[in-house]
Amino acid sequence: MGLRDNVAKVLIPEHTLRTRVAELGQEINTAYTDEDRVLLICVLKGAFIFLADLIRHLEIRHEVDFMEISSYGAGTVSSGVVRILLDLGQNIAGRHVLIVEDIVDSGNTLDYVTRNLRTRGPTSLRVCTLLSKPSRREIDIPLDFVGFEVPDEFVIGYGLDFAEEYRNLPFIGVLKEEVYAE
Ligand code: PRP
Repeated sequence: MGLRDNVAKVLIPEHTLRTRVAELGQEINTAYTDEDRVLLICVLKGAFIFLADLIRHLEIRHEVDFMEISSYGAGTVSSGVVRILLDLGQNIAGRHVLIVEDIVDSGNTLDYVTRNLRTRGPTSLRVCTLLSKPSRREIDIPLDFVGFEVPDEFVIGYGLDFAEEYRNLPFIGVLKEEVYAE
């Protein structure tokens, strides 16, 4: 049995992702001026593939840095407990910061990250997420750039995992229920 045998359906095919990620890049290009020198903060691990594709569409000056946050463990629903596993390598005071996420589900992770980063004095703080699952939101956080709204299904692929697997799939798929129910 391969990983793909556990995919119930493809929700967002590879070509649709490619087109939308390019559009998001253009949206970001027009939202900042060249003087801004934006710091993109990739929230690991899920956002690493999205970030890598997104920045290839950026024409504005920018840098990337990484934060690793974990709230899910190996489960399928958010525990609501958010931890920083890896912090930024730099001071963000006075910087234009753009958080890059793979998915906003309950909003707990993003709420924690934005509140934490805001205390560090960035000039601006915006959020770009590939996916948003509004039906699951517990905390309402403004999202500046959103790739797709997705239904309340267990999505994997393009960086998103189940128990650390499936991140490599080039599309966003829905995991078969029997896989996570095991
Ligand atoms: C996922 C995802 C978001 C968060 C969203 O991270 O990358 O950071 O959950 O869920 P929330 O809105 O309910 O907080 P996860 O903890 O699975 O870690 P990972 O990115 O390393 O897979």
